[in-house]
This record gives sequence, structure tokens and C-alpha cells, in this order.
Amino acid sequence: MAKIVAGVCSSHVPAIGAAIDLGKTQEPYWTRVFSGFEESKRWIEKIKPDVCIVVYNDHATAFSMDVVPTFALGCAAEFPPADEGWGPRPVPVVKGHPKLAAHIAQSVILDEFDLTVVNKMEVDHGLTVPLNLMFGSPKEWPCPVIPLAVNVVLFPPPTGKRCFDLGAAIRRAVESYPEDLKVVIFGTGGMSHQISGPRAGLINSEFDKAFLDGLANDPQKIVKLRHVEYMREAGAEGVEMVMWLVMRGALDEKVKEVYRFYTVPASNTAVGHIILENAHPS
Ligand code: DHB
Ligand code: FE
Repeated sequence: MAKIVAGVCSSHVPAIGAAIDLGKTQEPYWTRVFSGFEESKRWIEKIKPDVCIVVYNDHATAFSMDVVPTFALGCAAEFPPADEGWGPRPVPVVKGHPKLAAHIAQSVILDEFDLTVVNKMEVDHGLTVPLNLMFGSPKEWPCPVIPLAVNVVLFPPPTGKRCFDLGAAIRRAVESYPEDLKVVIFGTGGMSHQISGPRAGLINSEFDKAFLDGLANDPQKIVKLRHVEYMREAGAEGVEMVMWLVMRGALDEKVKEVYRFYTVPASNTAVGHIILENAHPS
């Protein structure tokens, strides 16, 4: 049987990708950010997931404003890096896991979560930057990745509660897949940031840290947060954090916090990161 053994959350700032691609990781501004992921890289190398499910948002890259699916599951064999205006990032093509993805689509849709099935898609910084943070810059990504794109760009995004419940449905789906697979689920985006308007540059460390506490110890508390609270406290783009709740819903009620990191700023964004393991991973 396949099993979700752990969850990883991290911010996905595009400037982090640019720092990697332009060879700036040794600059003090960036060592502060990347040093927070050294332990995480060692952790995931030890865990060696067979598959990662990466919950992320597309930033009007693969989906234009013509079509904005609320939840879109990547069922393709591969997902090339997208051109976000400066050419595609020089990162490996993301290899999917079509069999497990099709199984998740079937299980979750019959469980009454109406996902959009995507058989062709390019992936932007929302997905590739967290892969770099956890796996570094290898020639090939070390395992297949199933992308789950969540709309947090065009109002209304799904509620935190809906995201959490979808996570639980994904867990049921994974656990009904007959092959033994070790799965790690990623929640990406956030933390507090606002990139336009009069409040551009807003960062709220107190809110972010309380959110990390909630993820680790009291998920039901943060599941209740409404969009307006995310936006007021964490900025318009802070609403990306609902994606972290998909990850959390896929884990046990009680989890072990393995690692946490928080630094301000990276570009306009607070960088937050947490690793949670199910108490009985095997
Ligand atoms: C920035 C952060 C994001 O999460 C994003 O998707 C785009 C830009 C920023 O910090 O500028
Ligand atoms: Fe973003």
C-alpha cells in the first residue's frame, strides 16, 4: 500500500529561483535563506520518497485568465518548466507519476472533490522553487512529482477548510493504491506577502509564526481562518497559505515536527518552512 509519511511546506519566491539560476546563492542575503534548508535536504535524502505530491499555485503561467481551475491535478508523464518571461528556468523537466495520479483523480473525484484532470501542463516557480530548496540543483529530480495546482490567484480561492478536507481525501486515495510507495506531500507558497497596492511589502511575522504553530499543534484553529483574515493579516498574496492546509489535511491529527525555519525577507516575502512527519510513518 502507498503511504504519505510526511509533509513539507515552504515558500516559493521567484527571486529564490533567480538567485539559483544566476549563481547568487553565496551572497550573504541568499545564504541566510538557503542555510535554512540544509537540514531539510539531509532529511529528505534520508527519507527518499518514491513520489512527491506538490500542492502549489500557477501564477497565470500555465492557466491564463481564460481558464482558472480551482484544483487541477497533473496526470501527465512530464511537466516542462514554464517560461515566466525570462525563458524557462534551467531546471530538470519534472517527471510525473501518471498511474498514481490517475488513481488519485479517480478516488478523490468519486469522494466528491471535483478536480480538473490536466494531461499537459508547464510548471512555474510555484512548483520548481520548492523542489530546488529541498533537493538542490540535481541533473534530474530524484523522484516523480504529482503537481496539484490550486487557484489562489483569482477570487474566490477555495477555503482553508476545503483545502484541508481535500488533503484528507488525497490521503485516502494514496492509501488505497496497492503498490508500496513512500509519498511526501508538499504545501507551497506564502508566507505573508503583498506584492502590489498601497500595502506592498507587508510582512507579518507574528501571524506567520502562529500559523506554523497551528500547523504543527492545532490545525483545526487555522483551518477556520477566512480569506479576509489571511488578506488582512498576511497580505493579498498571503492567501497562498491555504495550500499548506492541503498538506496538513493529508497527515495524522497529531504529527511530529521535525524542523522549522523562518526568515524575513526574500524579495517581498517572508520565507517559512516546516517539516511534519506522521507519528507512525511505516
Ligand atoms: C513574489 C512572491 C511570490 O510568492 C510570487 O509568487 C511572486 C512574487 C515576490 O516576493 O515578489
Ligand atoms: Fe506566489
